This record gives sequence, structure tokens and C-alpha cells, in this order.
Amino acid sequence: MRIPFIDLDRIYRKVKDNIDNAISGVFGSQRWILGPEVEELERTFSDSIGVEAAVGVASGTDALLLSLRAQAISRYNRQFFRRDEYIITTPFTFVATAEAIIRSGATPLLVDIGEDFNISVSEIERAVLSYKNVVGILPVHLYGCPADMEAIMDIASRYDLFVVEDCAQAFGARLSGRCVGGFGDFGAFSFFPTKVLPGIGDGGMIACRDKRNRDILRALRNHGGIDKYDIEYIGYNSRLDSIQAAVIAVYLGYIEEFIKERQRIAEAYISALSGIDNLILPKAEKGNVFNLFTLRLSHPLDRYRVCRELNARGIGAGVYYPVLINEMQGIRDYVVVSGDLNQALKAKDEVLSLPIFPYMEDEEIEYVVDTLRAIVLS
Ligand SMILES: Cc1ncc(COP(=O)(O)O)c(C=O)c1O
Repeated sequence: MRIPFIDLDRIYRKVKDNIDNAISGVFGSQRWILGPEVEELERTFSDSIGVEAAVGVASGTDALLLSLRAQAISRYNRQFFRRDEYIITTPFTFVATAEAIIRSGATPLLVDIGEDFNISVSEIERAVLSYKNVVGILPVHLYGCPADMEAIMDIASRYDLFVVEDCAQAFGARLSGRCVGGFGDFGAFSFFPTKVLPGIGDGGMIACRDKRNRDILRALRNHGGIDKYDIEYIGYNSRLDSIQAAVIAVYLGYIEEFIKERQRIAEAYISALSGIDNLILPKAEKGNVFNLFTLRLSHPLDRYRVCRELNARGIGAGVYYPVLINEMQGIRDYVVVSGDLNQALKAKDEVLSLPIFPYMEDEEIEYVVDTLRAIVLS
């Protein structure tokens, strides 16, 4: 049996007719960039997250960068942050998180993570107290598991910090019934094709709380001005294509089903794999949308050996992430580490992600479970 890490074709086939119609609709209007489909998606997106506004951009990376730029503009009346201003984030994330902070002018201040792989709230507070110039917090809802936003927002309000949530992997994830992306000042989402809410190329969306920031974001994505020759800021070409928006809108209509599917598979993995020595499973929390299903294999189990053997038997397992942000050659001189990163260092050596995608069949889940059990217990 061959089981890919994610099967995009299976998701597409479920809604093929609707997608094909949505794409032909854009050919009908020929308004390829920021067309009516983008405006419509922004409306339904903000309604589904429960925020005032949403602004479509070219990628999740840009969603983070433009959120930070808008924050510098609206809060500090400056276009960029300064290098001596710190934004607290996690070292255990995709590179885009830190890259966006650096490109906004600020310095990522990296703190350790907790058992759920998300940023540690106590380490955030320790960093705020140890460094003078902390301006904001950028938590990542890693793998689809919501970070502890209530505690993070409490720290933010006590120390007067802004919060940008990296929701790239966590569309639809909830805490106490509220969607991620609606807690902080901004929520940055990605429509990269493997995400919970996928596009058919690059795309992103920013959830924001007020119209002023929405207008700044609209200008930033369009070279810094709503009007072509009235340029207010140094901007970007970061517009969302109408075709992307049309397709994402179709997928958005099925999102509850996609999320239930991911949760069903996660629960099946958890119940079938529990009780194995040195194999630590994620918790089956309701708010987790399981963009990735990531477990840890601790000593004497060897994560790379297990991954190789799964791959050899046709299972698309992978490692997210084997390298911390502060270990990346081109990035490390632009970040500062607060405290030790013991949990993150342990996580990067132990994590392994199993295939998970909507409409994965029971026999496929069984094959992954049986194969993993056989490898680990051999
Ligand atoms: C945690 C995280 N942040 C940011 C991004 C960037 O999103 P994009 O690939 O759409 O630029 C990703 C996606 O790959 C991600 O996983």
C-alpha cells in the first residue's frame, strides 16, 4: 500500500464540479486580481472567524509581514520596527514566522516551547521581564493546535504589547469556542495547498479587528496606496488572485467536514497507538484541527530510523521541524534567544508526523498504525 503524506487530489475530487465552475466563473469576468471573488471571500472569511475584517494577500508569509508592518504604522506611527525592538516568538516553527519579523525591521526574541509544541507562556513572561524593548508577541498555533491565547492576551494587556497570531496551520482551531485569529490584533492565515483550508497555489489572509488596520493592509498589499499615485507607505505587490479566492471559497464551504475528517483520523491514531513505550501522542483536544499529526519518539527509539522505515514501506511520514530558527545559517545572526531552549531542542530530535488528510480510509489508517507498531516494537 502507498499512503502519501497528503493526498490533495482526493480533496479536490470531492468538490470537483464546484471548483471547476468557480474557476470558469472567473474566466467569465476576467477580473483576475482582487476581483469580486476576493471581496466575497474576505467577507465570508471574516464572518467565519468572527472578526471585523479580513484582507486577502499573496501568501501566509506576507500575511505575517503585512500584519507586522500595519502594527508598526498604526501603533507607532512608523513604517518599520527598529532592530532593537523585540517580538517574542517560538524557535520551533516554519522559517516564515521569524523571517517576517526580521523583514518588518524588528528582532525575533525566541523563547522555549511547552509540551504541546507551542510557545511557553511562562517563558514569554520571563522574556518580557528580562528585555526592555519587547513590543509584541507572535504565537504560532503549531500543527493546528491552538496556543494558550487567553494567557498570552493577558500578558499582552498587562505589558501593553501587540499580538499577531500565526494561524497558517490552524484555520478553524478553537479555544473556548472562539476561533484562532480572533484573539490577537491580527491573525495571519495561509492557503498553501497542504493547509487545513487549501488554495491551488500561494495565498494568504489577514484577520483584523478594526477598519483602520484593514485600510492600512489594503494599501500595503497594493504597493502602499489604495490609489495608484497616492502612495502612503512602502508597500508590496501582495494581492490575492481571483481564481485562488474562488477556489478557496468552495473549500471554505466544506471546511467543517474537512476538520471533522482530520479529527477523526487523529482520534483513530491516538486510540490505536496509545500505551506504546517511548511514543508520546498529541492530546485529542476538540479545538485542534490537526493540520499535521505529530507524535514524539523518545530514546531509545530513533525518530529517523522509524521515519526511513515508514517511507520504505510506502508511508509518507515526515519531520517538521528538524532545525530550530536560531540554528538556521542565514537567520541566526538576526535573532536573540531568551533562556534555554531545552524543550525545543528535544522536540526537534523527537518529532515525527504521520499522513493525515480528509477522506483517508480506515484501511489506510490501519496500515499506518500496524506498520508503525511493527517498526517501533521490533
Ligand atoms: C507556521 C507557518 N507560518 C507561516 C507559513 C507561511 O505560509 P505561506 O507558505 O503561505 O507563505 C507557514 C506555511 O507554510 C507555516 O507553516
